[in-house]
Amino acid sequence: MAQLDASLSGTFAIGGDLQVNRLGFGAMRITGKGIWGQPEDRDETIRVLKRLPELNVNFVDTAESYGPYVSEDLIGEALAPYDKGTVVATKSGLTRTGPDEWHQLGRPEFLRQGVMTSMRRLKLEQIPLWQLHRIDGKTPREDQFGVIADMQKEGLIKHVGLSEVSVEDIKEAQKHFKVATVQNMYNLVSRKAEDVLDFCEANDIGFIPWRPIDGGNLESTSAEFKAIMDKHGATASQLALAWMLHRSRVMLPIPGTSKVKHLEDNIAAAAIKLSDEDFATLDKVGRQQ
Ligand SMILES: NC(=O)c1ccc[n+]([C@@H]2O[C@H](COP(=O)([O-])OP(=O)(O)OC[C@H]3O[C@@H](n4cnc5c(N)ncnc54)[C@H](OP(=O)(O)O)[C@@H]3O)[C@@H](O)[C@H]2O)c1
Repeated sequence: MAQLDASLSGTFAIGGDLQVNRLGFGAMRITGKGIWGQPEDRDETIRVLKRLPELNVNFVDTAESYGPYVSEDLIGEALAPYDKGTVVATKSGLTRTGPDEWHQLGRPEFLRQGVMTSMRRLKLEQIPLWQLHRIDGKTPREDQFGVIADMQKEGLIKHVGLSEVSVEDIKEAQKHFKVATVQNMYNLVSRKAEDVLDFCEANDIGFIPWRPIDGGNLESTSAEFKAIMDKHGATASQLALAWMLHRSRVMLPIPGTSKVKHLEDNIAAAAIKLSDEDFATLDKVGRQQ
C-alpha cells in the first residue's frame, strides 16, 4: 500500500504561527444528503475522523452550516481535546432552511452566535481559524468585518479567513484584520481563482481550495494524463491533489469524504512527487477540460 502520511505534503504556518500539514480534510461530507442532518453511516464517519490523526492529518475544515451543526458535533465528539494538535477551521455566515438550501447572513449578532456556539460544539475555548463563509451582500461590510475584528481582539478567534472572495474583497477586509486564509473553489479543471491564489502566495495567505477533487468526478481524459497515472500508479483524484500541492506552497487542499477507504486514497496523494514536466502536462490537460 502507498505511504499514508499527510506530513509528506509539507507544512504551512497559518497566520504565521499555526503550523499544519498541507493536505487536510474537509468535513462537509460527514452529514446527510443535501448537507442536512445526520450521516447515513454515523459509525463510519466517526471512524473517518478518528483515522485523521493516525494519518497525520492535522487540518480539518468544517462549518456550523454543515448539517447544520452535525459536522461540528461529530468533530467535537471524535477529536476533542485534539491532543495531536489538530487545527479545526470552521465558518459562519450562511444559514440553512433545508437540504441544499443556503442563505447568506452576515448580521453581527449572527456571526457572533456562530463563533460562540461553534466553540461549544467543537469543545474549544478559542477557534484557531474562523472563516466568513460568504460576505453577505445585504449587510454592510463594515458591520461584518467590524464584529470579526472585535471577536479576534476578544480572543474568541485566533486567525481569520474568508471564502469565495476576490482580490479586492481581501484588500478591503485587510483594512479591518489580518487575512490568514482564503477558501475559494479551485481544482485541476476549475481555475477561476488563479488570480486570488497568486495574490495569496505573494502575501503568505493560506489558500484552501474547496472541491479539490471536483466532487470525486475527475477522470483520465487524455493519453498524456493516463501515462502520468500509470507512471505513478495513481488515480485521477490523487494526481489532481499532487498537482495542487505542487502548484503553490500556500495550497491547503481539503478533500472531503465519509468513507475511510476514500480518506486513505486521498491521503496517499501526499506521497506523490511530480516532476516539473508532469506538473506542466497536468496543468495543460486540466485547462483544456
Ligand atoms: N467554502 C465553501 O463555500 C465550500 C463549499 C464546498 C465545500 N467546502 C469545503 O471543501 C471540502 C471539499 O469539498 P467537497 O467535499 O465539495 O468536494 P471534493 O472534496 O472535491 O469531493 C468530495 C466528494 O468526492 C467523493 N470522494 C472523496 N474521495 C473520494 C475517493 N477517493 N474516491 C471516490 N470518491 C471520493 C466524496 O464521496 P464519499 O463520501 O463517497 O467519499 C464526496 O462526494 C468540503 O468538505 C468542505 O469542507 C467549502
